[in-house]
Amino acid sequence: MAAPNKLFLGSFVHSKKLKEIESLHNAAVAVDSSGKIVAVEKDCSEGRARETVLPRLGWREDEVEVVRAADGQFFFPGFIDTHIHASQYPNVGIFGESTLLDWLKKYTFPLEASLADSTKARQVYTRVIRKTLSHGTTCAAYYATIDVPSTNLLADLCHTAGQRALVGRICMNQNSPDKYRDASVESAIADTRANIEHIRSIDPSMALVRPIITPRFAPACSVDLMRQLGALAKETGLPIQTHISENTAEIAFVGELFPPSVTGAADDTYAAVYDACGLLTERTILGHAVHLTDSEAELVARRKAKISHCPCSNSALTSGAAPVRRQFLDRGIACGLGTDMSGGYSPSVLEAARQAALVSRQVVLSGTVDGKREDGAALSVDEVLYLATRGGAEVVGLADKVGAFEVGMDWDVQLIGLNIVGEDGEVINGDGDGGDVDVFGWESWPNQVAKWVYNGDDRNTKKVWVKGRLVHERR
Ligand code: GUN
Ligand code: FE
Repeated sequence: MAAPNKLFLGSFVHSKKLKEIESLHNAAVAVDSSGKIVAVEKDCSEGRARETVLPRLGWREDEVEVVRAADGQFFFPGFIDTHIHASQYPNVGIFGESTLLDWLKKYTFPLEASLADSTKARQVYTRVIRKTLSHGTTCAAYYATIDVPSTNLLADLCHTAGQRALVGRICMNQNSPDKYRDASVESAIADTRANIEHIRSIDPSMALVRPIITPRFAPACSVDLMRQLGALAKETGLPIQTHISENTAEIAFVGELFPPSVTGAADDTYAAVYDACGLLTERTILGHAVHLTDSEAELVARRKAKISHCPCSNSALTSGAAPVRRQFLDRGIACGLGTDMSGGYSPSVLEAARQAALVSRQVVLSGTVDGKREDGAALSVDEVLYLATRGGAEVVGLADKVGAFEVGMDWDVQLIGLNIVGEDGEVINGDGDGGDVDVFGWESWPNQVAKWVYNGDDRNTKKVWVKGRLVHERR
């Protein structure tokens, strides 16, 4: 049976631009059976929507499902997690005193290798999808593992659960454990192609799930492997995801491993290594980018590559604080947020948004980074929510599809409620299982949104839709 047409009524909050949040009240948004937004009407009561919008669309009243945001609730675009390791979910919050390179060895590689066990992989991937959906993540750029069957399974499970996803089979053929690495460049490419073919077979039009070429990071890949993955990206037109300049020891290692004589690059910087291998494209998502030099940031901007800012991870693994405004936003580099779970300690993009705001204030406090003044580094609530939605959409190549309430976009949306309301309509904050963010009713809408960003969590995410389909509901 085809999904019904839907009419959403109430308050809608979304980003117009980096520094501008718009809230629409007493509004109506119509979504057709394919999940596409076909009308956005401001100042439109339910009666008016029925009298004018439905006839204009040729929809019969009795065929339309009406969804109302209750008083104080609002619809908000679904979050886009531009960098998350599905395979690392069991380690969420577990990183001890480690920093990137020893964390990979001690915690990460053993866990990822263990997911070649398909029972374990199914359990982990099922839960990570359910968890991220419950936090309002309607689209995720996932890293899986090097194992093809379980990476295929992750794509299957996203497709079935209805989560929009980019799913990457990790490539790594050096500086990796003997039991967890690609045996050869040829086998890495063959396995990547097999994963791409599988995802194409389950979602030929890539409406929901698409493959993403995933060299883990330069230290774990030979130049030959990176070059062949760059060529594969060119051949297929597929996006690429990898890590860059996360940690100073990692950067020094890249300098040692890839002198220009080996790569043919203009210099030995991290970005130049990727560029020399054809991996710096307008469809490339670069995770972290904490310590880019100015010339690297300029190269990233010239290539129109995108950046996933991962503040929870950058703090947890003491990688550093990315100078987001100076290096990315002021250069016009597209930037979104990544949880980088489990380098990041949380599966929540809302937490990443909160930490993006707080870390940017630490950057201000530090005065200068790399000798540059950082007085203007602080990111506002409006800006971090932009990064979590529209910015992320641009990063994953879906800027015209998701991230806002606009005609032609898909209905990838979460319904947010801050007060807890009892059966009789009375506010019962403090009396239940928590999750209440007290709103008194006199706060402006921007202030209510700020309360959500700084105090909210998944308990405020009441319902979640992707492409018009209800994929999560809080009970
Ligand atoms: N660099 C290479 N692999 C990883 C990973 O799994 N997580 C993070 N944060 N950085 C990496
Ligand atoms: Fe990562």
